[in-house]
Amino acid sequence: MSETAVFAREFLRSPLRTASLIPSSSRLVERLVAAVPERGEPVVVELGPGTGPATAAIQHKLAGRGRHIAVELNERLAAHLVERFPGAETVAESAWELPRILADRGLGAADVVVSSLPWSAFTGPQGQALVPAIASVLSETGVYTQFAYAFAHWAPPSRRRLAQLRRAFEEVVASRTVYRNLPPALVYSARRPRVPAGQPAPPAAPIANRTAS
Ligand SMILES: C[S@@+](CC[C@H](N)C(=O)[O-])C[C@H]1O[C@@H](n2cnc3c(N)ncnc32)[C@H](O)[C@@H]1O
Repeated sequence: MSETAVFAREFLRSPLRTASLIPSSSRLVERLVAAVPERGEPVVVELGPGTGPATAAIQHKLAGRGRHIAVELNERLAAHLVERFPGAETVAESAWELPRILADRGLGAADVVVSSLPWSAFTGPQGQALVPAIASVLSETGVYTQFAYAFAHWAPPSRRRLAQLRRAFEEVVASRTVYRNLPPALVYSARRPRVPAGQPAPPAAPIANRTAS
């Protein structure tokens, strides 16, 4: 079965969680993984790898260096990743468990977090906890890249996540829209987490301080 067919099948089983009908394009993936360093022994975390378009690009860039932890909640997709990418450490758990997942592997901090999670689909307190959890595991020089669909850019959930990203990081840069992706998408790159790795994430901002939506 092709990667697209595997992904489409999982979308039909769980559309909200899968959030996309087809895998990301190579153009989008290029931007998502741009922060993965070409030297050294980095710890790279990938969230929501799906069938693995970004996993393949990360593995190619790492070429056996460092660690690559791929966190995919969908067990069927996780099993597919284990088979396809023996060089990555695939974990069939939720991204919210990231601090514990790293601690279990004796890893204090990540150098890069690459996320294709449908972040604006996560609502309520759970949604609010995602960005702080990611920021809390990044090293001081770490980078978090997050993809987002361009059509949802102005929707309240996306604006709330972006406001949260700006609270958690000193620098947040948005890429241009990648039109060669279905649907068109962009990548946020966040640098310099305001809370050092290992420290508890700050509580979510009170409702009144959130970006108007
Ligand atoms: C929009 S797809 C992206 C898939 C792939 N990275 C790509 O770019 O084609 C989102 C992926 O996130 C996974 N996912 C959703 N919620 C998750 C969670 N809480 N923890 C880890 N993965 C999750 C889904 O199963 C799905 O594979």
